Amino acid sequence: MAYVRFLGHAAFEIGLSGKRILVDPWLTNPMSPVKPEEVGPVDLIVVTHDHGDHTGEAAEILRRNPQCKLVAVYETAERIGRSARSGQAIGANIGGPVKLGDLEVVLVPALHSSSSGAPSGAVIIGREGAVYHAGDTGLTMEMKLVGELYRPKVALLPIGGHFTMGPREAAKAVELIEPEVAIPMHYGTFPVLWGTPEEFKRLVEERGLRTRVVVLKPGERFEF
Ligand code: NI
Ligand code: MN
Repeated sequence: MAYVRFLGHAAFEIGLSGKRILVDPWLTNPMSPVKPEEVGPVDLIVVTHDHGDHTGEAAEILRRNPQCKLVAVYETAERIGRSARSGQAIGANIGGPVKLGDLEVVLVPALHSSSSGAPSGAVIIGREGAVYHAGDTGLTMEMKLVGELYRPKVALLPIGGHFTMGPREAAKAVELIEPEVAIPMHYGTFPVLWGTPEEFKRLVEERGLRTRVVVLKPGERFEF
């Protein structure tokens, strides 16, 4: 059984191909149901870009899980991996599929900024299908390619506005990607992230798309 569990803000735990994956593990976010030290064994961490609300406790979790790998854009992986064991951080780049046993990770374009490297989204492909975590991004036509090439079952999309897409842009993103399920993220953590899942859901429904919007409370999971 594959699953996606929302850990607040842009942090997700994903179960695919029997592996436990964390994306953007800022587990000290105000909504997080789990503390970094309670997260347990992790096989893979993916970080979309080098902003503190996305790198989070990645380095600490890597140190505590010697077998865990991290995939990020090269310079960001290098920076996070400095305090980890050699070989744990795998620097990749946008558009280059990385093979990790039964998992494949593809970093994809994101319209944003990053303190190191470049910002990205990530497509994580396992036996049960693909999950697309868009990272922090504005709306971009690149999303249409992500949809066509990887056919994600689940798309995790920022809707908070200000730094990323708001509900209007994210609803258009759903039309470009055409995932089976869209799960909103990156809203409500701070007052400035004003977008609401209710508005996002309404705008997706207004477009008459087949995609189902699933709103997860922090700690909840969606299985597929
Ligand atoms: Ni950011
Ligand atoms: Mn962010």
